[in-house]
Parts: sequence; C-alpha cells; structure tokens
Amino acid sequence: MPSKQTVNKLDREPAPILARPLLKWAGGKGQLLDKILPKFPKTYNKYIEPFFGGGAVFFGLAPEHSLIADSNPELINLYRCIAENPEGVMHFLKGFQNSKEAFYEMRALDPTNLDPLHAAARTIYLNKTCFNGLYPTLCPSIVTRTARLSCGLESSK
Ligand SMILES: C[S@@+](CC[C@H](N)C(=O)[O-])C[C@H]1O[C@@H](n2cnc3c(N)ncnc32)[C@H](O)[C@@H]1O
Repeated sequence: MPSKQTVNKLDREPAPILARPLLKWAGGKGQLLDKILPKFPKTYNKYIEPFFGGGAVFFGLAPEHSLIADSNPELINLYRCIAENPEGVMHFLKGFQNSKEAFYEMRALDPTNLDPLHAAARTIYLNKTCFNGLYPTLCPSIVTRTARLSCGLESSK
C-alpha cells in the first residue's frame, strides 16, 4: 500500500493548468482533456505514460509522481533538456531566425550531431515553424502527405 505522501490525489477541484504542452503534436489529447481527466481514479500511486508525445494528459493531470517515455529520441532529449536546463534551450532558441532559408538550414542539421540543448531548441523551432505545427520526421506515421509535400519531404511527382 503506498504511503499517504506518495499518492496522487484527484479528489479535489480540478487545479488550474500550470503547464501546457511545449509542442503541437499529432494525436495530442489536449482537446479531449475535459472528457479524459474525469475518468482517472481519485487516488493513484504513480502516473505512467509510455506514449508521451506532447504530453497533454500529463500536463493536464499534473501528477506528483510519474514516469514518462516515448520511442522518439528527439522528444525525450527535448524534455530532458527542458527539465535540466531550460535557460540553455532558450539561449539557442533566441539565436534562431524565422525565415524560409533558416528553416531549411535547421531542418538539414542532424540532431544526433548537435549539442543536446541545440537539438532540443531545434525540435521546438521546427515544430513551431513547420506546416501546421506538424513536423513530419517527428511523427512520420501520422502526418499527412499534404504536410510532407509542404515541408519538401515528399515530391508531388
Ligand atoms: C499521439 S502521441 C501521444 C499523445 C499524448 N499521450 C497526449 O497526452 O497528448 C503518440 C506518441 O507515441 C509514441 N510512440 C509510438 N509508438 C511507440 C512505442 N512503441 N513505444 C513508445 N512510444 C511510442 C510516438 O512517438 C508519439 O509521440
């Protein structure tokens, strides 16, 4: 039986949302929160989210104890960097330009060759500046062909 201190409680008025998803994410559950959150048990020990994505449910629930995961390494790098050094991510973001040329240059970078903070800022930048907020290599199975064409990742021929 978990101790009283380790139990997350939902037997209270819904708390004001303190944090929101950093990214716009295909399949994100942000618009369904008012239907999803009431279905959670009133008390639970640890919230485990294996398909974190943009984390709309996590941020809406704001659990005291949690374990989050995702198969997307760019996403996990982003959350690690934001948790450990948000100013470091901001430092890189402030240096980025919002132009077509800058977008394509940024997209061409291999995130595995970048400083993790730089890669995290790149993930945010591409997510915020690409077509409809849906950057295809971050969610390839869901993003439509229209988005892939628009981002130049697929030829119309
Ligand atoms: C629709 S998003 C999740 C939305 C999110 N839970 C929310 O609250 O809005 C789905 C996520 O699952 C991840 N994913 C897909 N298959 C996976 C797997 N086998 N293991 C871990 N993560 C996976 C994807 O990378 C994607 O980020």
